[in-house]
This record gives sequence, structure tokens and C-alpha cells, in this order.
Amino acid sequence: MSPKEVTYPYVVAICGASGVVYGVRLAALLLRHKVKVMVVVSHGGVQVLAHEMGYDPGTRFHAFMAGYGVGPETLQNLSVFSQDDIAAPPASGSFRHAGMVVAPCSMKTLAAVAAGYAGNLITRACDVTLKEGRRLILVPRETPLSLIHLENMARLARAGAVILPAMPSFYSFPATMDALVDTVVARIMDRLGVDHTLVPRWGE
Ligand SMILES: Cc1cc2nc3c(=O)[nH]c(=O)nc-3n(C[C@H](O)[C@H](O)[C@H](O)COP(=O)(O)O)c2cc1C
Repeated sequence: MSPKEVTYPYVVAICGASGVVYGVRLAALLLRHKVKVMVVVSHGGVQVLAHEMGYDPGTRFHAFMAGYGVGPETLQNLSVFSQDDIAAPPASGSFRHAGMVVAPCSMKTLAAVAAGYAGNLITRACDVTLKEGRRLILVPRETPLSLIHLENMARLARAGAVILPAMPSFYSFPATMDALVDTVVARIMDRLGVDHTLVPRWGE
């Protein structure tokens, strides 16, 4: 599907795992496609955004995204929610979206979703996305992985989630950190069905 045909928003959740840039970059690229994007940031996500990307929790996330290069004409398509906004649209199964991505996904959020424990907006939205049979892409980041982590991932894969680990690749010779990040974001965009030319495709 080309981005122009998309009518429903995308939901991007950013948790407190390392690699918050994956969620930020994904949201920025989707916005560049002129689609609506709902971002949910967990409390842990706010802390890691501050640590890894210099995010100031006292400022609006919109201002942060503007500083990341998202233009004002597309920023109007961005809505931002806290994990505590449990009455926000993605919390309901009646709310339609084009796909939900948790990038990065912490082992805590992974465990909560695997257990059906919908204790905040992110885990509730994941729960609802699975029960409604909508697209859920989880981008876990942890290493090494314990048996508990692996079993949670297997359980979620059986329930219909796509487990797309934050494992950057090197065969396209990424020369910058952004290019390395894009090796993961490109795979997320592929699974969302959004066209992109982020990384050369093997054989092309
Ligand atoms: C700088 C930093 C990096 C972290 N990296 C990870 C990580 O890669 N994976 C992970 O599962 N947890 C990581 N954590 C721990 C989570 O933030 C913590 O378990 C938190 O409770 C997750 O909550 P959330 O999923 O609601 O954001 C990190 C914490 C900090 C402060």
C-alpha cells in the first residue's frame, strides 16, 4: 500500500529501552509521508529519550520533533500521549489504526503484553490491537536474552504480533548512525506496508 492510500493513523509507542531513536525516526518518516501519527511515550521512554537524545521532559514532544527535522506542515498530524492517558483513542478496540509499532520495546512492556496485563496506554493499546486482529510490531531491545524474554516473544508471535528485534544490519555498509538506524526502521516500514527507499534492497 502506498502512503497516499492510508487513511487511518499509525500508533508508535516509545518505551524505556535503549534505541529510542528507532521510534523517533519511524514517527518522523511516517509524518513525512503526510499520514497521521499517534506517539505514546512511557515514563521510561521519557527518561531514555533524555539520556540518549537530549530530550527535555519539560518541553512539548512536538518541539523535540521539530528539532529532529519534522516540518511544521506535518507536525499538525502528530498527536502525543503519555502512558497514563488510558482514555486516549488507541486504548479502545473501536479505534481503527493502520498499525501499531512499539519501538523500542523494553522487556517489561514485552512481558506485560505477553501476559495480557494492560496497565498503561501502551500495553492496553497492544492488547487491543491483538484482540482486534490489527497489525502489531514489537521491536524488542535487550541482550543477552533470557528464557523468559524468549518465551514472551514466542507467545506474542503465536498471538499474531510481529517480533522485529532492533538488530541493525551491516551489509549495506551504513556510514552514519542514522543509516544504521535506518536498517531497522526500513524493516518496520516494510512490515507496515509503507513505501520507502531508506536502504538499498539486496539485489537491486
Ligand atoms: C538508559 C537506559 C537504557 C535501558 N535500556 C533497556 C533496554 O535496552 N532493554 C530493556 O528491556 N530495558 C532497558 N532499560 C530499563 C527499562 O527502562 C525499565 O525496565 C523500564 O521499567 C521499562 O518501562 P517501560 O517499558 O514502561 O518504558 C533501560 C533503562 C535506562 C535508564
